[in-house]
Amino acid sequence: MPNIVVIGTQWGDEGKGKIVDMLASGMAAVVRFQGGHNAGHTVAVGKDEYKLRLIPSGILHTGTICLLGNGVVLDPEAFCGEIDGLNERGVEVNPERLRVSRKCHLILPYHRILDQARESYKGESKIGTTGRGIGPCYEDKAGRCGVRACDLEDPDLLRKKVGLALAEKNALLTGLYGQKAVTEGDVLDKLEALAPRVIPYLADVSAEIARVEAGGGEIMFEGAQGVHLDIDHGTYPFVTSSGTVAGNASAGSGVGPDHLHRVIGIVKAYITRVGSGAMATELADEVGEYLQKKGAEVGTVTGRKRRCGWQDLVILRESIRLCGVSDLALTKLDVLSGLKEVKICVAYAYKGKTIQYPPQAEKGLAEAVPLYENLPGWEEELGSIRRFEDLPPAARNYVRRLEELSGRPISMVSVGPDREQTIRR
Ligand code: GDP
Ligand code: IMO
Ligand code: MG
Repeated sequence: MPNIVVIGTQWGDEGKGKIVDMLASGMAAVVRFQGGHNAGHTVAVGKDEYKLRLIPSGILHTGTICLLGNGVVLDPEAFCGEIDGLNERGVEVNPERLRVSRKCHLILPYHRILDQARESYKGESKIGTTGRGIGPCYEDKAGRCGVRACDLEDPDLLRKKVGLALAEKNALLTGLYGQKAVTEGDVLDKLEALAPRVIPYLADVSAEIARVEAGGGEIMFEGAQGVHLDIDHGTYPFVTSSGTVAGNASAGSGVGPDHLHRVIGIVKAYITRVGSGAMATELADEVGEYLQKKGAEVGTVTGRKRRCGWQDLVILRESIRLCGVSDLALTKLDVLSGLKEVKICVAYAYKGKTIQYPPQAEKGLAEAVPLYENLPGWEEELGSIRRFEDLPPAARNYVRRLEELSGRPISMVSVGPDREQTIRR
């Protein structure tokens, strides 16, 4: 079996956690390669529900090791808190099972404070971030003044870097944003307390992956967020600050692109978005409300209601092209039950033309008008169906039409949050 990259093809929350957990049972390792604890990946196992933030969704399988690649931004406090939470629930997390790249950049308190201060300063123009310090941390990485996980092993260097960073951050925090200054003591005391807990997890993740592969093990790369939140290819500036496309699995974990064999794109049966930014098929009507309620579309991290809309093939086709998606996993098909009609956006009307790919201008998506194909809906609930041929004909028709329009096979159909509620084709 090949190595697999799993990515979200929309704006996040497609159900990546469920699919990664399901596929992880056969994998030797699951690797996160970007993002941080802005992610919220839900895994349901029977009556238990786990909300994973930083730790890969393979952690529930004892035979699978979990790795955080260099592309991840790590908040040491959130990391330790997540480990404690899992250990308390009987999921054993220890350095034998979880390793973190020494090259990961650390999210420090001033990143979170800056993220939130900047958002409130921007008012109406805010991004709607998760407020976890993701953007400011990646800024420091690109600005070559970031603090890396390996710096925890060098207290003198750590002190020097934090001191330098604070001089700049505090000027901004107090001068522009009207916030209190962050003291060096606050940051260093916290890090000093957390360092002994984090250091045992540090490793050369690229070398770990090579070791697993040399032993014949297969690797799964777990994407966070979604392609349209990608810093380069997403709906800029309403994006996250990392590369969410499949190719970044290579750079973000330290493997060559020839190690990425299969790319599974996760696509929800409809579309959702949290935070600011346009969504061409957004529904501000009772159907949107129906999807939000029936799909329980509430943000895992911030508790915000997710905005809902019809399936958008313009968005999906772009993700397939950008990521080299080999096959699709369709999630939440069960949520569409009870609708008289389901719609698929097949193209946009934009500036007097019909277009098949999203416009690249900043205001493009807000100005694009979705062109729909209408399909008959179905009444039956799908949660207990396990074979494709047992789905109501209209649901099968919807799945087949998505395959035709996307040009990719749908290899899995999810009809509920539980591992078992999956149709494999
Ligand atoms: P992720 O960020 O892509 O991992 O997705 P989230 O976990 O944030 O959001 C997906 C939500 O839908 C979670 O609450 C899942 O338990 C749930 N879910 C996943 N697949 C299905 C499905 O097929 N049907 C239903 N009803 N819920 C699902
Ligand atoms: P998972 O992995 C959905 C969104 C935020 C905001 C934008 C920037 O669970 O799919 P950030 O805090 O990253 O600077 O916020 O990105 N966002 C997500 N939306 N699912 C996520 O993760 C997200 N992570 C970030 O809402 O619009
Ligand atoms: Mg999520």
